[in-house]
Amino acid sequence: MAVGVFKEYEVCPTSNFQHSNECVYVNILENISLGIIGLDVKKETVIFQNKFAIDLFKSTIKPKDYKALCALLLPNIEEYFTSNSPSISKTLRYGNRFIGYTVYRVSDRYLWIYATDVTEKVRLDSIAEAVNTMNNIGYIFSGIRHEIGNPINSIKMTMSVLRDNIDTYPKKKILEYIDRVLTEISRVEYLLKVLKSFSMYESMELQDVQISYFMKKFLSMVVSDFEEKGIKIKTLIRKEAEWVHADPRALQQVMLNILTNASDALKDREDPEIFISVLKIDKRVMIRVEDNGCGMSEEQQKNLFKPFYTTKPNGTGLGLVIVKKMLASMDGTIEVESRENLGTVVTITLPEGRNRIAER
Ligand SMILES: Nc1ncnc2c1ncn2[C@@H]1O[C@H](COP(=O)(O)OP(=O)(O)OP(=O)(O)O)[C@@H](O)[C@H]1O
Ligand SMILES: [Mg+2]
Repeated sequence: MAVGVFKEYEVCPTSNFQHSNECVYVNILENISLGIIGLDVKKETVIFQNKFAIDLFKSTIKPKDYKALCALLLPNIEEYFTSNSPSISKTLRYGNRFIGYTVYRVSDRYLWIYATDVTEKVRLDSIAEAVNTMNNIGYIFSGIRHEIGNPINSIKMTMSVLRDNIDTYPKKKILEYIDRVLTEISRVEYLLKVLKSFSMYESMELQDVQISYFMKKFLSMVVSDFEEKGIKIKTLIRKEAEWVHADPRALQQVMLNILTNASDALKDREDPEIFISVLKIDKRVMIRVEDNGCGMSEEQQKNLFKPFYTTKPNGTGLGLVIVKKMLASMDGTIEVESRENLGTVVTITLPEGRNRIAER
């Protein structure tokens, strides 16, 4: 019997209305483009799950599987009954998609869940956020002032001390002071070089790039550096993820910044390894860079994309900001998952390219 259809006047168990033929209410819920799930927590059963909700989770969960749905959506079911608010909204990563859902407490026995696929929204939000970060020019300028101001102050102080003591200091000490100044100057120079990459790719030259060819070229450039540090690089490129739509120079800069971070995180680690995998999901290409390095604390992860945030003595804290900006200009996204002392996974996605050779 179809959902909500009754032979005689019967009480529909879902809407509690008495009907002949059809229960209009249940049919509306059944066919709406929003996942709807009703749970009876006391009996541990699913009282209702519409088509949309079945489809949403069908890759891992059978229809009306109470235990599996709870494990996925309500791992801490108590919170819905103890919370002051009658509803709680969350976003969940499900495979390669994001599901947004709100759980309503109907009584102390029933929960009602609305769920929908928000992958596209999450992607657009992360692009908007990147653009917003970059538009925050005042913030960036104050960072630059600080980063350049510090070495300049230190140069000024060193030179004044040197000037006042030039006749009494031995040559060795004078050279030490000069070296100190030169080090500070190199720091400013390096910072200026990094800042150049902000404007370097203002106008992206987007094209279809063959990933295996790109990776081969890119890795041949960096591999000796990594080998010297004892870091193994493994790659896996899925056949279907062969083409990506991007600016190859910008993509190279993105990969370089991510790999440099991985290499820094692998310093003094046992069996240091970087695993690069490329997959295709829907119409996007996903590049994952996984390292078994030092990982990050929750606090570090929160600040990751803030300009000038760095935990390294010689870092600028601009590496990932540049990555995010470049990806945003290529309609790309970036996500970082990390566990302290275990390692980090950086996942970027870009629109897929088209295989022009195969089309000819
Ligand atoms: N793979 C990683 N493993 C552990 N920590 C990381 C990783 N990637 C980034 N981080 C953390 O994020 C911070 C910011 O990274 P980002 O690349 O923006 O700047 P940086 O590496 O510190 O400086 P720069 O890129 O100029 O050398 C780093 O200082 C580090 O603490
Ligand atoms: Mg970096």
